[in-house]
Amino acid sequence: MAEQIFKFRCTKDHCERIDTTGMLLAEQGLPAQCRTAYWDMAREVELPRMDAISNIVVTGLGGSAIGGDLLRVFAARRIPVPVIVNRDYVLPKFVGPDTLVFAVSYSGNTEETLSAYEEAVARKAGIVAITTGGELGKMARRDGAPVVGIPSGVAPRAATGFLFIPTLTILNRYGLLPDLTGEIEEMINHILVLGEKLGPGVTEEDNLAKRIAHKLKDKIPVIWGSSGHTEVVAQRWKGQINENAKAPAYWNIIPELNHNEIVGFQFPPEVLKKIHVIILRDEQDHPRVQKRVEITKEIIKDAVDGVTEVYATGQGELARLYSLIYIGDYASIYLATLYGIDPGPVRAIDFLKKELANDGAFCGLSHPHNL
Ligand code: F6R
Repeated sequence: MAEQIFKFRCTKDHCERIDTTGMLLAEQGLPAQCRTAYWDMAREVELPRMDAISNIVVTGLGGSAIGGDLLRVFAARRIPVPVIVNRDYVLPKFVGPDTLVFAVSYSGNTEETLSAYEEAVARKAGIVAITTGGELGKMARRDGAPVVGIPSGVAPRAATGFLFIPTLTILNRYGLLPDLTGEIEEMINHILVLGEKLGPGVTEEDNLAKRIAHKLKDKIPVIWGSSGHTEVVAQRWKGQINENAKAPAYWNIIPELNHNEIVGFQFPPEVLKKIHVIILRDEQDHPRVQKRVEITKEIIKDAVDGVTEVYATGQGELARLYSLIYIGDYASIYLATLYGIDPGPVRAIDFLKKELANDGAFCGLSHPHNL
């Protein structure tokens, strides 16, 4: 019984005991990781010579793709060409010599990414690989494509700094983004201070992430962000809750959900009472989106277990997005500890990848879908 009571608290001791792969340590290291990613990576690597860049594709999956979404959201109001995130074996038809493709795989062994990489080579796109090595590293070196080598040793989902920030540096080098030193430094300093309030040593009363984890325990988290901005964070929270806490979670965006999902809060009432809605808020969101949030809350609040609003802090867009990401990352790890599960291992993903590898049918570009 004593263990049971202990288990349901996110004490520092309990977290350290249950988190055998150091997911919390990795979170604490995120500001330093971002600093290394900005100052020491992607500055020297020789970039593909491109006459024009008409579009940008980030191809990757899971923890290696979310940086692509950060880039897509961040770039949307800043650069004049589209950024597409491709989570598939195949690339969209428009990809060609005027496409800059970031092939991103932490392990370098994700078969969808390897397949898309091969297709990018065949289409003569400009390619930059971002990886710790693996097959992707080998293939890129074989093809003379630049590789932004990143350190191994953390879970891909704990490496957003390494996987995302080099894309900003590279787009700056192509003249598509301005120098972002000020904004990136502000983001790093902001999450450094925020991290001190979210760490395992800070008790529940003073720790927003721990309080959120308690609200989400035994509930189905539904995370809502705003279109073109915190939507990437909503997706990130969902993935982090899935992978760290081994629990289901769902996400959607405002205003789109105002045109369908809000109608679905009537049945079945007992299941709806299991849903806890998290609304990611930013005072810089479009005023009409903010108004929509207020009305939406009223529509759903009595049907669900509860609604929690989490506000972005910081100045620049990167700091604001990362402030919300950081809270969600910590909350998902604390949720894991409340469930008594190690946040690190992702056995279902490992099993699936092993089964696919064992079947030996992956044939990359020669697959009919790629032809
Ligand atoms: C594991 C994780 C996964 C992987 C995904 C792709 O921490 O976050 O979502 O990122 O399975 O693998 P990589 O990143 O090695 O290409």
